[in-house]
Amino acid sequence: MEVDRNRFQDGDMVLFQDRKERRYLTTLAEGQVFHSHLGRLNHDGLIGHSVGGWYRTDRGHTLLAVRPTLGDFVRQMPRGPQIIYPKDLGNIVAFADIFPGATVIESGLGSGALTTALLRAVGEQGHVITYEIEESVVPRALANINKVMPSPPNLTITLGDIYQGIEERQVDRVVLDVPEPWQAVAGAAEALVMGGILVSFLPTILQVHQLVGQLHEDGRFQMIETVETLLRPWHVTERSVRPAHRMVAHSGFLTTAVRCLPRVVGTASNPAPLPSGEPLTPPDRGNDKES
Ligand SMILES: C[S@@+](CC[C@H](N)C(=O)[O-])C[C@H]1O[C@@H](n2cnc3c(N)ncnc32)[C@H](O)[C@@H]1O
Repeated sequence: MEVDRNRFQDGDMVLFQDRKERRYLTTLAEGQVFHSHLGRLNHDGLIGHSVGGWYRTDRGHTLLAVRPTLGDFVRQMPRGPQIIYPKDLGNIVAFADIFPGATVIESGLGSGALTTALLRAVGEQGHVITYEIEESVVPRALANINKVMPSPPNLTITLGDIYQGIEERQVDRVVLDVPEPWQAVAGAAEALVMGGILVSFLPTILQVHQLVGQLHEDGRFQMIETVETLLRPWHVTERSVRPAHRMVAHSGFLTTAVRCLPRVVGTASNPAPLPSGEPLTPPDRGNDKES
């Protein structure tokens, strides 16, 4: 039977918003009650009723009920290790060009926020293989992932140290959120297809410096770029249009690099032979590069 996506079902996640725009996340279950300082609301009063509808608590407060986005869920999900925030999740998917059907190696699993975004981006035909060194994080991460996509068949969790190497070969992307990603560079170079992309999220610029140094030293990566995303929300009303007073000033840096053949070294008078069809330098991506 086709599910009516306009109506909430038993087991759906719901995001409530009150009149002060405070948000509350819950999962609908028959017979359960949502409690807050605004009063009680029976889940049965929502099941079978409209998404985007307005619902009244027993204390007379009205709540708007919608489906949470992945970003809403990530911000509120139970966590142990630091998660990656929605602004960075989106850019990881975009800058690493995670595509439907891709095979992606990720490390580490953490609370599963990034894993969930990757699973969505690769789709049913893709595969996410996550290396995680700490077994104790797995149950909570799986509980978080299962809330968004129950028991995804295309997720493999490998308990192990990514710094010791990657077993898989011909993978499309390597996505790292570990403290010392420079230790994973050689393994990523072995695992990636030619043209495959490595992306690393790091909270401090000293870590980025060490990673980029290792990528250059390894020689099998080109087009090495680092960005940071500042997301500034705006307050827009009829009488006032201005940036919000508060914003997340810092989360981390994203470094991307493309798996290539090592650069061929020669001189103008004695150029190194090129394998046929191999360009000497990568195509210009419009950056200011030192010559
Ligand atoms: C910051 S958390 C990852 C958070 C995750 N990206 C998320 O969005 O929830 C880092 C994770 O990497 C794991 N880790 C650290 N070093 C590792 C290594 N060498 N190999 C595999 N996992 C590692 C940690 O146990 C931790 O779970």
